[in-house]
Amino acid sequence: MVHAKTWILKKHFEGSPTNSNFELKTVELPPLKNGEVLLEALFLTVDPYMRIAATKLKEGDVMMGQQVARVVESQNSAFPTGTIVLAHSGWTMHSISDGKALEKLPTGWPDTLPLSLALGTVGMPGLTAYFGLLEICGVKGGETVMVNAAAGAVGSVVGQIAKLKGCKVVGAAGSDEKVAYLKKIGFDVAFNYKKVESLEETLKKASPDGYDCYFDNVGGVFSNTVIRQMKKFGRIAICGAISTYNRTGELPPGPPPENMIYQQLRMEGFIVTTWQGEVREKALKDLLKWVLEGKIQYHEHITEGFENMPAAFMGMLKGENLGKAIVKA
Ligand SMILES: NC(=O)c1ccc[n+]([C@@H]2O[C@H](COP(=O)([O-])OP(=O)(O)OC[C@H]3O[C@@H](n4cnc5c(N)ncnc54)[C@H](OP(=O)(O)O)[C@@H]3O)[C@@H](O)[C@H]2O)c1
Repeated sequence: MVHAKTWILKKHFEGSPTNSNFELKTVELPPLKNGEVLLEALFLTVDPYMRIAATKLKEGDVMMGQQVARVVESQNSAFPTGTIVLAHSGWTMHSISDGKALEKLPTGWPDTLPLSLALGTVGMPGLTAYFGLLEICGVKGGETVMVNAAAGAVGSVVGQIAKLKGCKVVGAAGSDEKVAYLKKIGFDVAFNYKKVESLEETLKKASPDGYDCYFDNVGGVFSNTVIRQMKKFGRIAICGAISTYNRTGELPPGPPPENMIYQQLRMEGFIVTTWQGEVREKALKDLLKWVLEGKIQYHEHITEGFENMPAAFMGMLKGENLGKAIVKA
């Protein structure tokens, strides 16, 4: 009999999550049936979307999320014991799957690459950067791209793909350490948005002619400031709005209409899961190739221990992570 340690949503979030929103439980798993596998978590991800998605859970439900897991017992010949998989098992150390929703790592994954990258640069956040920038923004060489939460899992890949495509890249992040990292990985301009006197002036100085593409991870007031500085026919990918996720009141006012109209801007929200099948496989292959060639660098903020899942999640929402926030089980 396997006892699975599992984090549940004890109480819905009000404002910023706290420890009292979570509870660690032990769940007894039944014996495996034919076709099933038992998974043990190796790495788990904490992502901003969980702050929003948790509103749809019932109190007492397991927190949602992907993990890199190892098959530790198998009644399914497609996933023998020892297979490494990506699973949507949630915040749990052990889980049972019938194999249908399991995904193997992309082919060509070398032993030297951390498995946790499948939750970051060569996983959902990397794909978000890839499709948001290449498909939604339709970025072209020579253009100027602005990205915020730039030192995070998505933002850091956005900037590096933009550089690969021959763009000028401006990034905003919330600490000097993050700014130094952005410069190291090739951003043309990077600034600490918490320290600048005027965001408007800083953006103007970084690109006096304005911006062709804005990859928005933050939303709110930040976005309204960037949109005023978009060039004609600029494109805006609305990826996320993390500055608003812990709000308790009304949303801040929306995009400035004069700029949207007279600059003829295109602004589009998107969800990474829109791209499936071959295009997704190609994107993962490209991301893996760029990482192996050293064209995309990665950084992970690793929290040790499954018992620290809530702390890792809350820390990520506060900006403690440089690169992808990961929990090592
Ligand atoms: N559309 C999709 O399919 C999709 C998929 C994945 C992610 N997303 C979105 O993409 C964004 C980034 O996600 P991620 O996984 O890459 O997370 P991340 O950037 O690795 O971590 C979140 C970061 O957000 C920043 N942040 C927190 N509060 C902020 C605030 N009030 N103002 C500005 N920045 C703030 C912090 O960095 P600083 O220190 O720089 O403040 C923090 O490190 C999120 O909005 C997420 O919801 C969307």
